[in-house]
Amino acid sequence: MDRTFVMIKPDGVQRGLVGEIVSRFEAKGLKLAGAKIEILPEERVIEQYREHLEKPFFPGLKTYIMSGPCFLMAWEGKGAVAVARRMIGATNPAEAAPGSIRGDFALDIGRNVIHGSDSPESAARELGIHFPPGELLEYSKIDEPVLYE
Ligand code: RTP
Ligand code: MG
Repeated sequence: MDRTFVMIKPDGVQRGLVGEIVSRFEAKGLKLAGAKIEILPEERVIEQYREHLEKPFFPGLKTYIMSGPCFLMAWEGKGAVAVARRMIGATNPAEAAPGSIRGDFALDIGRNVIHGSDSPESAARELGIHFPPGELLEYSKIDEPVLYE
């Protein structure tokens, strides 16, 4: 099964959106393989966003991500990476489709509530940054026989 890394950013945690967002992923049928609340250390923020290190928005992004607790999750299921990205919506919440998380809960590109891995390779890399070996669980869920063909 595919796994993806999803993280509710400090604005989402402060605005009390953790439960709403977890509910959406659960209702979709994805399985929670790991979760924790954490204030990220600088080195993990840099690792997470290393593709953006040279971008003009990087200093602001780093300050924002480190400004308070994030809620980190590993979600598992068929096509989990692409499914989660669609549920999250476009980077700029002003352009994100209604019904997506950013489309429903945010207005500003610099405060877009949530992160999701953009490819299976990114997902594996990002899960490795944030969840040490043994922190992600493998278990069966009773809905699996009716969830999948
Ligand atoms: P993320 O990595 O957080 O899931 O977001 P994404 O793939 O949709 O977008 P990405 O291009 O990877 O950008 C990472 C995060 O950087 C901030 N950003 N600010 N001010 C700006 O122009 C700007 N552009 C990007 C956003 O927080 C974005 O989610
Ligand atoms: Mg990204």
